[in-house]
Amino acid sequence: MSMNTRRRGLRRRKPPGAPITASGLRCNLRSVNLREIRALIRMKPFEPDSVRRRLSRCHDLNDLRRAALRRTPRPVFDYVDGGADDEVSMAGNRAAFERYRYVPRLGVDVSAPDLSTRIFDRPAAFPLALAPTGYTRMMHPAGERAVARAAARAGVPYTLSTMGTTTIEDVAATGHEDLWFQLYPWTEEHVSHDLVDRAAAAGYRVLAVTLDTAVSGRRSRDVRNGLIIPPALTLRTMAGIAIKPAYWARMLRSPAIDFANLTAAFEGKARDGAVANVSQYFVPGITWEFIAEMRRRWPGRLVVKGPVSGADAKRAVEAGVDGIHLSNHGGRQLDRSVAPLDLVPEVRGAVGEDVQVLIDSGIRHGADIATAVALGADAGVVGRAYLYGLMAAGEPGVDHALDLLRVQFQRTMQLLGVNSVAELRTLGPELLRPAP
Ligand SMILES: Cc1cc2nc3c(=O)[nH]c(=O)nc-3n(C[C@H](O)[C@H](O)[C@H](O)COP(=O)(O)O)c2cc1C
Repeated sequence: MSMNTRRRGLRRRKPPGAPITASGLRCNLRSVNLREIRALIRMKPFEPDSVRRRLSRCHDLNDLRRAALRRTPRPVFDYVDGGADDEVSMAGNRAAFERYRYVPRLGVDVSAPDLSTRIFDRPAAFPLALAPTGYTRMMHPAGERAVARAAARAGVPYTLSTMGTTTIEDVAATGHEDLWFQLYPWTEEHVSHDLVDRAAAAGYRVLAVTLDTAVSGRRSRDVRNGLIIPPALTLRTMAGIAIKPAYWARMLRSPAIDFANLTAAFEGKARDGAVANVSQYFVPGITWEFIAEMRRRWPGRLVVKGPVSGADAKRAVEAGVDGIHLSNHGGRQLDRSVAPLDLVPEVRGAVGEDVQVLIDSGIRHGADIATAVALGADAGVVGRAYLYGLMAAGEPGVDHALDLLRVQFQRTMQLLGVNSVAELRTLGPELLRPAP
């Protein structure tokens, strides 16, 4: 090979079948232009913050769920992730969303879609609210306060559960201006009254009365895992500590978990901590008269939460509610119950346009919110989605979950050729087809 050829880094081609020699390889490597390689390989800058690094690898809620599983003891993760009995409802909730396909509108300028909406006459950044979830500090000590702050940043409402592990007043002190309170009507009437009056005094806007928990659903995973609340030191938890030391270190540094709003209600009562046993204090049959009584007592907006049929939705409206929150508790109560998504058109038809219709159970993507709105809902509601974020990375994890849902919702709207939530509602039937 001449000197000139060598300088220009050119090589004669190896004849087919000729063996590759070490010197040949060396020469080829030397001939590669380093500047060209540098231009091709763009190294991602190293993220020194471990939480941000973890979240940057979570590109959707499935990733976030997996990150939650890696960081949380199995019984706690299963408590969030699992459903009742054979988890037929839980699977059905997802299947209901996956049964729809979109027919987008083409030729529409979607460069600046407006995702905002109004839920109970207050602006929301997009049609989403956060569902009540009990024992939230068991998932991460930042608990309800972290979720409320993240919801405020995202511009969406947050619902505190009766079984919350932070007081009504402490959640209000986060400054979130769109807080809702969820009531499990208590066997001792004065307990329900006290909770509702405190929520009103603390400025909560919406009261959601949960109707589907006459008794606790049988959560098979909790039964098998022997979950007790708060997590106590049993042989099994000792093993859990060995596997997830960071979780236990956080827990041991934080105040003990308790039902923060029910301290007086539980005074003098034996409580063995098994998850299912707490529901023995819930009213086993809530009547429409009870809802009418709440209407008289509660100054804000009133909602019933459960798998409400069209006929029951009408009764609820007669009893004075302002909204129907369609839910099967994320498949955690009556197994084999109808997917709430499938109730949306029926309930919208029954209550008309003046009553708000919300729907939860199975929302894991912004496109699910779009489908729910296209079918006639005013907003989607999520439970596990934000809890996966909380378990994966505390408060920034909740921010991340809400951000993913917003970005996915926006992209779905744009690809559907829709520019506003109102347009999505109106055009809904044209945009959806049943999957073959
Ligand atoms: C861990 C956990 C705890 C819950 N606790 C309550 C509760 O205290 N009160 C209530 O009305 N619903 C409760 N729910 C049900 C949620 O409010 C909501 O209906 C459900 O999570 C929606 O389904 P999704 O998780 O698929 O989004 C809980 C759900 C989960 C996952």
